[in-house]
Amino acid sequence: MTKNQIVITVISLICLSILAASFFFKNAAQQSQANRTAQASARVFTLEELNKFDGQNGSPAYIAINGIVYDVSKVREWKNGSHQGFSAGKDLTADFPHKASILNKVPIVGKLSEN
Ligand code: HEM
Repeated sequence: MTKNQIVITVISLICLSILAASFFFKNAAQQSQANRTAQASARVFTLEELNKFDGQNGSPAYIAINGIVYDVSKVREWKNGSHQGFSAGKDLTADFPHKASILNKVPIVGKLSEN
């Protein structure tokens, strides 16, 4: 093998590993999205049940956005169940000003009952 052939082989191997790694991470990301969807069907909350999770007196702080119920108890901005004048325990879909991706790392606890 000439020096050039060795260099080309090494570069090809590096490219192949990058390709393989990117496939792996893409699949892992899709998998975690699927897990989140599964979690969303774990528990169905009525609005009345959701109201109890207002983050007050030691209760967890849950909010509903687009039918999905999220646990924001550990989100700094939602300390004591309130944020920018809004309270947890409610469906805040209509007032939600952020990109949906802000909720990507917030645990899902269920979905909102449709009636
Ligand atoms: C994981 C959940 C959330 C995070 C991490 C978050 C974070 C933030 C941050 C960092 C700001 C900038 C001002 C500040 O420092 O407080 C902000 C502003 C604001 N948030 Fe949130 N937020 C979340 C969920 C929500 C939800 C569910 C609502 C629904 C009502 C909301 C309504 C607002 C409003 C009205 C503002 C002020 C206007 C604006 O900056 O667009 N947020 N939020």
